[in-house]
Amino acid sequence: MGPLPAYVVTTPELARQVLVTGSQDFERGRLSGKLTRALGSGLATSTGQEHRTQRRMLQPAFSRTAVAACAEPMRAAAESLMSGWTAGQVIDVNQAMDAYSSDVVARSLFGSEVAAPAAAEFRQSLPGLLRDMVNRTILPEWWAGLPTPGNRRAARALARVDAAAHAAITAYRAADRDEGDLLSLLIAARDEDGSGLGDTQIRDQMITFTLAGVETTSATLAWFFHELAHHPDIERRVLAEIDTVLGTREPTLDDLPALTETTHALLESTRLYASWIQMRRAIRPVVLDGVELPAGTEVIYSPYLLHHDPRWFPNPEAFDPDRWNPDRADVIPNGAYLAFSAGIHKCIGESFAFLETTMLAAMACQRWRLRPVPGVPVRPVATGVVHPKGLVMTLTPR
Ligand code: HEM
Repeated sequence: MGPLPAYVVTTPELARQVLVTGSQDFERGRLSGKLTRALGSGLATSTGQEHRTQRRMLQPAFSRTAVAACAEPMRAAAESLMSGWTAGQVIDVNQAMDAYSSDVVARSLFGSEVAAPAAAEFRQSLPGLLRDMVNRTILPEWWAGLPTPGNRRAARALARVDAAAHAAITAYRAADRDEGDLLSLLIAARDEDGSGLGDTQIRDQMITFTLAGVETTSATLAWFFHELAHHPDIERRVLAEIDTVLGTREPTLDDLPALTETTHALLESTRLYASWIQMRRAIRPVVLDGVELPAGTEVIYSPYLLHHDPRWFPNPEAFDPDRWNPDRADVIPNGAYLAFSAGIHKCIGESFAFLETTMLAAMACQRWRLRPVPGVPVRPVATGVVHPKGLVMTLTPR
């Protein structure tokens, strides 16, 4: 990576050594260090003991009960997005899914009226901040300190998000009641010794959830609609399943096991278009497949690379949701599918993401079919994840 040597693990066994079995030999790598300036020290950037403490405290916010309760804000966000859709309208799918995912996080974090300004600020400023994040990971450190228009815009957006987050926290603490949302859970989170999170730590977690949870789910949904439109047989099966299992009602967390066609299509989107780079850094000398690496060595694992390897995923470029049927999924080696990572840093939002994506997938499929616009090329573009550039589709009522 430029002047920095980095090693890439290319097999499931080695990825598991770095992430799971030998995780005590690694900390987060260079990418996350660069994100800390904007994210603060939240769950996605902290490391070591601090990370373990945070993870324990935040786990209740992603328990089954807490995620199930987010079905309502997800339904409301899907309804709000589709209320602006009309027959024959051409939409930029990536933009629409970004708007939905930002709205879901804002509504799930801030359920109460007093937090409405914070929710609005998060929705409005975070897409821009996301772009800034990506630039920060690619550009050299000194660039971020320059007074360029982009850096100044990002700093202003961050200051607004900061002020909105602190105002919401202060109002919640003053009201001292459970609003049934993620912010209430963050305020109530306690460590083993009974201590809670400070205001800045809560703000860091709120920004972390938003940044970790928006682009990822939005890209999964955008690719889902793109792939369905190009695989009419799969689309028919997904629509038939939604009609049979749900009829016209919205899904809940309990419906997910019965929605196998839909969840396998979403899972296949996460496989085909996974994050292309994640990093770790050795904190002591380690041996990986006979190669001795000194402490400080940067190690890359790429879910995208593993997911496109025909040794673990036959015909890897094909969109084939049936590869997740139990008979075929059982032979995929442990560590070959890493869309949500594995081990101590495994995505805490995985079930939240599946409910969120299934919610919009189901509600959109109940009412609309998204058709490709002929002659408009769609390109995969790698930012934090791999998202579709140029994906415009026409809305056709069912
Ligand atoms: C399709 C959707 C998603 C994908 C593909 C995804 C993927 C990932 C991956 C690969 C990691 C591990 C990164 C590493 O190895 O360092 C991760 C961690 C994380 N994700 Fe997700 N994510 C998704 C949705 C979400 C959502 C919806 C949230 C929150 C609402 C979220 C919050 C987090 C957090 C906080 C971490 C850090 C966990 C830790 O280090 O303990 N993610 N995610």
